[in-house]
Amino acid sequence: MSVPADRRYGPATLPRARGPLSTAVIEALRRPPHDLPTDLGVGLDPADPIVDEDLQLTLFLCYELHYRGWLGVDESWEWQPTLLALRARCERVFEAALRRLVGAPSVPAAGVAAGLAELVAADDGPALAAQLQRRADLAQFREFVAHRSVYHLREADPHSWALPRLGGPAKAALVEIQTDEYGNGRLDRMHAELFRRTLDRLGLDTGYGAHVDVVPAVTLATNNLMSLFGLHRRLRGALLGHLAAFEMTSSLPNRRYGNGLRRLGFDEVATRFYDEHVEADAVHEQIAAHDMCGGLVRLEPALASDVLFGAAAGLAVDRLFAAHLLDSWADGRSSLRTPAPPDLPPTVSLVALPAVAPPSPPALV
Ligand SMILES: [Fe+2]
Ligand SMILES: [Fe+2]
Repeated sequence: MSVPADRRYGPATLPRARGPLSTAVIEALRRPPHDLPTDLGVGLDPADPIVDEDLQLTLFLCYELHYRGWLGVDESWEWQPTLLALRARCERVFEAALRRLVGAPSVPAAGVAAGLAELVAADDGPALAAQLQRRADLAQFREFVAHRSVYHLREADPHSWALPRLGGPAKAALVEIQTDEYGNGRLDRMHAELFRRTLDRLGLDTGYGAHVDVVPAVTLATNNLMSLFGLHRRLRGALLGHLAAFEMTSSLPNRRYGNGLRRLGFDEVATRFYDEHVEADAVHEQIAAHDMCGGLVRLEPALASDVLFGAAAGLAVDRLFAAHLLDSWADGRSSLRTPAPPDLPPTVSLVALPAVAPPSPPALV
């Protein structure tokens, strides 16, 4: 589904609020920059911050000001001190929850690359990729793609925050990875653009941020943790660890996603994004673990545990994401936000991914 050119790359329209904090932020962003109430978010203590809709949307609203911004929102909000203070309150709660979730990973004597390999080998996440390969129906696959679109339409951007914060071998390795992610400077090969074609083939809105409204907190959390790591220099080790874990757990699942789309009758335009990652990430995982994270820790040994924290946090939140999808589908429910919360205008449907007919099965297998 094509979208007007001005919506393709952002900024996205402001999403709907999910609670008192996001309501206050959205109402503020609609007006010129001004001071927020000083007690906004003070004492914030949600039961489970990682799946708290109001907290995760508030963080996402704040972080997006550093990416493409929001349609109609004054760009000066990016550095508005009271909004930054609110963001910091939310971040403290979120980071504490991440650290509770994964503990403090210890660095093995063999080094940080070995530590990353151990974390990945121990990752016993639910088999989302196998489900998508073998059993998911078209509606479920479209849900999965809508969830992932929040990241893939700006693929690689959060990790680019690390570039000016690094020098030497780690920087060279990160540049090598990011160069591939950005299609070596060719628009039609940028991974975000390959993903846009997958969305299009599946009949989904290809606009930047088009699906933010329908994805739940856990999906926003998979994005917010990258922004948290990316926007804080002190967390640069965690950011690189996150990228390494991402690359080290990418190749096989992407093969399965591509096979799942082929099983559903989609062509190579739809599967290209996933097919591209099978080969590319088999290379990237070596660069990421040894050259990038290893290179960082050789220069800054104190960052080794941060690298493993970032990797463990990424894997853990992704497990929660996968469990949410599989549990929803096992219960016969959509994994997207549905039905529309009662406080929203009745004309607004959050359920809706537009209908699309499955493609005809391929003539030859
Ligand atoms: Fe990629
Ligand atoms: Fe990659």
